[in-house]
Amino acid sequence: MAEVKLDFLGDLRRTHTCGELRADDAGKRVILMGWVHRRRDLGGVIFIHLRDRYGVTQLVFDESKNLEAHRRAQELSSEYVIAAEGTVSLRSAETVNPSIVTGEVEVAVDKLWILNESRTPPFPLEESVDVKEETRLKYRYVDLRRPHMQRNIIMRSKITFAVRQALYAQDFLEIETPFMTRSTPEGARDYLVPSRVQPGNFYALPQSPQIFKQLLMVGGYERYFQIVRCFRDEDLRADRQPEFTQIDLEMSFAQQETIYQVIEPLVFAVCEAAGKSVALEIPRITYAEAMRSYGSDKPDLRIPPFHCVEDLFPGAGLTGEGLPLVAIHVPKVGQLSRKERDEFKAYGQERGLRVYDDVKRLERDYPEQLAKVRERIRPADEDLLILAGWAGEKKGVLPENTLLLAAGQLRLFIAQKYNDRHKLLDPDVFKFLWVIDFPMFEWDEDDQRWNAAHHPFTSVHDEDLDKLTSDPAHCRAKSYDLVLNGVELGSGSIRIHRRDVQTTVFAALGFSEEEAKRRFGFLLEALEFGAPPHGGIALGLDRLVMLLAGEQSIREVIPFPKTAKGTDLMCEAPSPIPDRQLRELGIRLNVPQ
Ligand code: AMO
Repeated sequence: MAEVKLDFLGDLRRTHTCGELRADDAGKRVILMGWVHRRRDLGGVIFIHLRDRYGVTQLVFDESKNLEAHRRAQELSSEYVIAAEGTVSLRSAETVNPSIVTGEVEVAVDKLWILNESRTPPFPLEESVDVKEETRLKYRYVDLRRPHMQRNIIMRSKITFAVRQALYAQDFLEIETPFMTRSTPEGARDYLVPSRVQPGNFYALPQSPQIFKQLLMVGGYERYFQIVRCFRDEDLRADRQPEFTQIDLEMSFAQQETIYQVIEPLVFAVCEAAGKSVALEIPRITYAEAMRSYGSDKPDLRIPPFHCVEDLFPGAGLTGEGLPLVAIHVPKVGQLSRKERDEFKAYGQERGLRVYDDVKRLERDYPEQLAKVRERIRPADEDLLILAGWAGEKKGVLPENTLLLAAGQLRLFIAQKYNDRHKLLDPDVFKFLWVIDFPMFEWDEDDQRWNAAHHPFTSVHDEDLDKLTSDPAHCRAKSYDLVLNGVELGSGSIRIHRRDVQTTVFAALGFSEEEAKRRFGFLLEALEFGAPPHGGIALGLDRLVMLLAGEQSIREVIPFPKTAKGTDLMCEAPSPIPDRQLRELGIRLNVPQ
């Protein structure tokens, strides 16, 4: 870096932020502080765009008015940190800059303090410049200065505040739970923390505060919430991080309805804080309906549902025996080329579907049936209408689900791939949905056993209690997911509060009595001490902010995220540990070189 004489901040105080000055302020003496965003040197006059969190203000250094300030301004480069004192002046009509809020004025500077210099930034800070994500993450502190990151992180803060306000207004208590704990089963692997004082023993970082929040209900703190970090060692994707934040809550004496009544105003307050308008009522559909209408447990309501029409084609052999035949309707797709049709057909076929994309031919072969399909769906001329049946063998315990899921994926594929022309999946349209009554158990094909579809503390519908062991496939859980535009935002359930029911559910999940006691003994015991009926939910804060900010990845709304491999590229975590530290922990490594 060039040798620049730096000034002390001393007792210098700024009078305004860089987003504050307006025409009314003309004539005032001001002191601003910030980063050199842009510098234009016209010889006798130097213009600096000075930036801070609040905005950008133009500074003017005029040689003919203040030689010394102008001389020092020549030393400035991008991202130098400065303080400038001067007089606000109105810009002439032709130099007003409407793209910045302070664009009507500029500050004629007569005193400049250079508080720090900066190396040339690793990438330009302009919004429009595309930068490789690895470089952005390595220099995250620079990346965080870029306008879209500033917008996202500020929006995240506003949303977090709105959540707190909404929940405090509904009489919730904010209570913390431990990070160093025992494993909580949420379906992922745990991150472990070795104990030095008890060598060979490990804490687990919580996958969620699930058990602790239930214990808080047993402890009498009805209406708990926490904005809490959770840790899960699982395969990462655009909407998954190893550590992420939940808006976690739990209520005593609550039914499903009570939870919806708390969450809906919360969601609206949050959308308002983010400056987004949404419909005031959140529709509800059951898991079974979601599968039969969207082929997904997190339907995207921006595209209309599909229709199961096998009843109209008896004996036609268009799908597998006893399986659905799905009429997929995607609006405004228009004319697709042969290549595009082959592309989506291949996509469906890879997932086991037989795709009938030639409507004319179907019309010829099944005129009456197709007329009825059209009557049900009422597609417009420019809409795409196709049928999809099952091509292969019946697979799994619930083969219709396999087919419906594949049809749901095909529907989304078509909408995503060919929607550019019509913005079918407009990121500025927000369609919330409750999906309720999930199945209690999911069949695990690999391990040939039932798993809890939500988690093992979820209550079963009262009418299905008898089926827990005799007919697990048809037990419905008192569980609910909040979905936004095809993304699972949150999940929750009414919990089991009786020891006998919890024991039966553990048994249905294949836990032996000893294993259940070993892993969850403290919870089982707590249920014996007057546990009230209770239930709750957790919303993913990162996903919520991502969607409201119109981003495709939660990394864009997390200040210091990790890569898909779980690496923090800036501080280079995870990292090896010195031998001495390992010895203290009683750990010897056995890592293949
Ligand atoms: P669940 O496991 O469904 O439920 O998680 C709730 C919500 O947390 C978010 N989420 C994630 N976000 C980012 N990265 C991840 N790796 C990740 N995993 C989950 C999602 C999800 O909907 N204890 C229960 C809640 C309850 O029953 O009250 C739980 O954790 O948005």
